[in-house]
Amino acid sequence: MKRLIPLAGAMGIALITGSNAHALDGEALYNTGTNPPCAACHRQGQGDTPETGNTDDWAERAEQGIDALVATAQDGIPDASPPMPPMGPQASEEELRAIIEYMLSQID
Ligand code: HEC
Repeated sequence: MKRLIPLAGAMGIALITGSNAHALDGEALYNTGTNPPCAACHRQGQGDTPETGNTDDWAERAEQGIDALVATAQDGIPDASPPMPPMGPQASEEELRAIIEYMLSQID
């Protein structure tokens, strides 16, 4: 019976970790979560990059809805200038969603 106690403790930790995964910090991931980070291009609107916080740059793109934007971030945009790398290999879908929710929260 004693062996059940540490097992229950480990399960408790697993549950706590699981619930934290939903509270991702989109702003921090935007700044440092990938290489290059989203901020490297999106903060200043490098080339054709839609600038974070610029409503004109984002209004039409945002109309696609978050699911389409997450899918685009996973695949990247190879023929853009500068080309946006596929972020799927570097960040989970949940992380990309948190980042893009942060980016969209910066426009009116
Ligand atoms: C190397 C530069 C670069 C980096 C780094 C970058 N992007 Fe982009 N991103 C672009 C460019 C350029 C476009 C616009 C492409 C176009 O529409 O021609 C774009 C467009 C987008 C769009 C709009 C897609 C659409 O359908 O209109 C989203 C969403 C996006 N990026 C998310 C991200 C996220 C999230 C990250 C980090 C995980 C990231 N980007 C990192 C260059 C970059």
